[in-house]
Amino acid sequence: MSLRKIAVLTSGGDAPGMNAAIRAVVRAALDRGVEVDGVIRGYSGLINNDFVPMDLRSVSDIIHRGGTFLCTARCPEFKTEEGLQTAIENCRARNIDGLVVIGGDGSFRGAQDLSKRGFPCVGIPGTIDNDISCCEHTIGYDTALNTCMELVDKLRDTSQSHDRCSVVEVMGRHAGYLALNVGVAVGATCILVPEIAFDLQKDVIDRVREMMKTGKKHFIIVVAEGIGGTVEIAKKIEEETGIETRATILGHVQRGGSPTLIDRVLASQMGYHAVELLLSGKSNRVVTIQHDTVGDYDIEEALKMKKPFDRDMYEMALRISI
Ligand code: ADP
Ligand code: F6P
Repeated sequence: MSLRKIAVLTSGGDAPGMNAAIRAVVRAALDRGVEVDGVIRGYSGLINNDFVPMDLRSVSDIIHRGGTFLCTARCPEFKTEEGLQTAIENCRARNIDGLVVIGGDGSFRGAQDLSKRGFPCVGIPGTIDNDISCCEHTIGYDTALNTCMELVDKLRDTSQSHDRCSVVEVMGRHAGYLALNVGVAVGATCILVPEIAFDLQKDVIDRVREMMKTGKKHFIIVVAEGIGGTVEIAKKIEEETGIETRATILGHVQRGGSPTLIDRVLASQMGYHAVELLLSGKSNRVVTIQHDTVGDYDIEEALKMKKPFDRDMYEMALRISI
């Protein structure tokens, strides 16, 4: 069967570059004579029949904008059989033959459930956490890295002026990729991530003390949100070392902003590839990038994979931040 119409949605936490991906999906489909509906607020829109027909101009002026103009949501109802069936019925009633889901691993589980019920779906990794195992870089990760780096640079200015220690928490849910790379880029004294066990006394407090002896007066400690307790860590450092310490939780500012060139290009390539997959009759695939090449994996296989954590880079960071 040739494709008549596809739909595109964004789901889970938003990420800079999602708009560029939507644009690519819409334009690639229209270019091939396939109609496109945008779905408002992720899987909730599928259940609530919230579809908007897209034309070439619907996605004008969005490639450089953060967030997602289709809006996003977390939709518990979609995890139920009833929710899934309603979503499929609503799509079929609109002659929609395939769906592109831009989101993280939770969203891909939803796409997998639809694919298993005979409704073709393709996922595009969009999350600042970079926690999709089959994919080197997810859409939004590069922008978030740069945002965090700029914000921590600002903290460094004030930390330096006051001879303080700055404990900074960055996002990443259960993953430390964002924290590791930001930590290297800002020259952090310590980087605390869920992937690597640490001892607060030995690896942080004693390390700060040793560096104070060599004349270092201000410090940056990057903490991944998966570690938690950032405020307590800051208090403990101040108590034990005597250095005035402040905790900063960067928060949702990390998810906003205009996407970087890398995220725009990645999003455009992935959006285009997703449409090609649906056109060639593929389903239950997730689009990936590895060694600068766009490809795809079976969603089930992709969700089982474990992403390596760059321990060599972590070691390197410790050796040069002394
Ligand atoms: P992300 O896609 O960023 O990982 P979530 O984990 O919050 O974000 O998932 C986004 C949405 O995907 C959920 O609100 C839900 O609608 C859907 N979803 C998540 N997990 C499942 C699942 N196991 N089965 C079906 N749908 C799911
Ligand atoms: O997955 C993206 C992310 O920003 C995580 O880094 C963070 O743990 C979570 O979403 C925050 O979710 P919410 O927007 O619901 O607070």
